[in-house]
Amino acid sequence: MTPAAPAETAMPLLEVRDLAHYYRQPDGSARLALSLNRLSAGRGEALAVVGPSGSGKTTFLHILAALIRPTEGDVAFDGQNLREMGRSGAAWRAASVGYVFQDVNLLPDFGLLENLMIAAEISGLSSGSASERAVSLLGRLGLADKTRNRPCRLSLGERQRAAVARAVLHSPPMVLADEPTASLDADNSRTVMSLLLELCVESQSLLIVATHDESVKKKLPRLVALEKPENTWHRGTPQ
Ligand SMILES: Nc1ncnc2c1ncn2[C@@H]1O[C@H](COP(=O)(O)OP(=O)(O)OP(=O)(O)O)[C@@H](O)[C@H]1O
Ligand SMILES: [Mg+2]
Repeated sequence: MTPAAPAETAMPLLEVRDLAHYYRQPDGSARLALSLNRLSAGRGEALAVVGPSGSGKTTFLHILAALIRPTEGDVAFDGQNLREMGRSGAAWRAASVGYVFQDVNLLPDFGLLENLMIAAEISGLSSGSASERAVSLLGRLGLADKTRNRPCRLSLGERQRAAVARAVLHSPPMVLADEPTASLDADNSRTVMSLLLELCVESQSLLIVATHDESVKKKLPRLVALEKPENTWHRGTPQ
């Protein structure tokens, strides 16, 4: 099975409109980091977000996970405007988003399996089913003999694979993966992408992968290309 072609349902799972994000600079001005006019995507779709370093890929994924609020524009997920979530954002994110961070972000004081079980508890999975699925996912990603290792006792590639297992454990409706193959060799990169794509079909999740990797781009049916913004400053801020 391959991920679905762009959905033409009445209400897409994700809708992005007129998005722009500016970051404040040390001199107090605000510089454009990301600009994207429109994007609609549905369940079971798989997209690559591509663009040069600094084009706003990580910023975009952070906005989609409601980790940051965009300066301008709206993101609706399942009809709900992320801007209006306020304090319910964390609960929404735990239930609805699986995130593979660019810098991996595993808890340093816990073994791999414990890292996954803590994430499962936060997202409301029962410990019985979570433990079985966690062991199975770690096995599929070649980490069966590393389940008790703390992140400091793993290679960067192993940590990256563990972060992928953690993100998909609770079968969230949206999986955001920021350069999930950056530290992997070709074999492990294929394993990670196959797993993400299989789970996207299995759980009918929307999969969005930020990547520079040509082999990863080829596996994803849709591309969203970001351009590095020229020096553009927010209206009304000093330059
Ligand atoms: N917290 C921040 N404060 C100020 N500027 C930031 C911040 N985070 C990112 N930026 C700037 O925003 C721009 C976009 O950054 P972002 O990390 O989204 O790019 P990216 O496309 O993910 O890059 P890469 O491919 O290197 O990971 C860059 O110019 C970056 O320096
Ligand atoms: Mg990035």
